[in-house]
Amino acid sequence: MTTYKLLLLPGDGIGPEVMAEVEKVVGWLGKAGLATFETETDLVGGAAIDTHGTPLSDATLAKADAADAILLGAVGGPKWAGVDYELRPEAGLLRLRKDLGLFANLRPAICYPALAEASALKPELVEGLDIMIVRELTGGVYFGEPKAITTLEDGSKRAVDTQVYTTAEIERIAHVAFDLARKRSGRVASAEKNNVMKTGVLWKEVVTRIHREHHSDIALEHVLADNCAMQLVRRPKQFDVLVMDNLFGDVLSDIAAMLTGSLGMLPSASLGAVDAKGTRKALYEPVHGSAPDIAGKGFANPIAMIGSLAMCLRYSFGLGDAADRIEAAITRTLASGARTRDIAKAGDAAISTAEMGDAIVRELDAGGAA
Ligand code: NAD
Ligand code: IPM
Ligand code: MN
Repeated sequence: MTTYKLLLLPGDGIGPEVMAEVEKVVGWLGKAGLATFETETDLVGGAAIDTHGTPLSDATLAKADAADAILLGAVGGPKWAGVDYELRPEAGLLRLRKDLGLFANLRPAICYPALAEASALKPELVEGLDIMIVRELTGGVYFGEPKAITTLEDGSKRAVDTQVYTTAEIERIAHVAFDLARKRSGRVASAEKNNVMKTGVLWKEVVTRIHREHHSDIALEHVLADNCAMQLVRRPKQFDVLVMDNLFGDVLSDIAAMLTGSLGMLPSASLGAVDAKGTRKALYEPVHGSAPDIAGKGFANPIAMIGSLAMCLRYSFGLGDAADRIEAAITRTLASGARTRDIAKAGDAAISTAEMGDAIVRELDAGGAA
């Protein structure tokens, strides 16, 4: 059996807490003979700043480059509020994404049946919800230059961020969205603001052409990003695959998270281009952050992190059956009533991060694919 090299980057806040739970699942996969891993753990974000003075050392980046896949917990927190902007914890994650070329961020928002009640929306609006947000991850306003704060003559300041997209960047993310839609319901909605932004004009033009030239079997709809945000809470099930730029994808995926009950439920895959050997760089991480408000308390929901491992098995290692087993175990665990605090009904008892991890491993042991 192939041994996969996994680099674990727990990071900050609840990152190490949810990573400890996914490690239980990694161990279970080995014991069950479904996949064997060689894991190595390293520092990223604030934890790396504390030790190395930088949120991502060159040595860690080299390990990430050499790994078959990376699992990342979360970075950031108030402890590092005072560090230089270039050296803040988030800069480490952004460098990983950029330097490894992880341009395609898949953020599936699935409402598990037992959690329809936990959503911020009425259960009938989210029951059966299964949407896939495809977020462009290495371009746009996150990386465009200039990006600066300058002091004006009168002593006041001027800040600038720059939104940049090229044809090639839009083409490749559009292909990812259309290819995914073909394996799902065959529908893509592309969100931008072509009514205000030049990048929106180019985005719509390129997505339209890629659709016409390569994917005319898929139904394509264009939607303005502000309307898209509204539609996501009005009638989310109208969407299947959604494709959008880096910033809109960041914001709209947090909205989508609440449809599923909690930000603690949303996994993600950040994928690079497929190379000549048929492999691609990939990093898997929850959509949520380091949650400083609950860090260290054992309240964090580890499902987004464990779901990210399932995505890793599916997208990096072709182990779709093992991924299905993990997702089925999560489904059954939730159906049994197990709830961390974020998905518990007000007043109901909640279990800890570790108890949720153990409950999922017990369900894995109990077996069954669905
Ligand atoms: P956050 O996602 O950390 O938390 C937002 C809210 O959701 C908090 O109330 C938190 O308790 C809750 N929450 C998040 N994950 C949860 C989980 N697994 N279980 C239960 N509740 C959960 O966002 P924030 O508070 O705006 O940001 C905190 C820090 O995290 C910032 O430094 C930010 O830059 C960073 N961040 C990092 C990532 C990442 O590493 N990928 C993502 C988002 C934010
Ligand atoms: C996310 C986070 C990151 C982003 C931050 C931490 C850089 O919010 O992964 O959603 O904005 O992309
Ligand atoms: Mn975010």
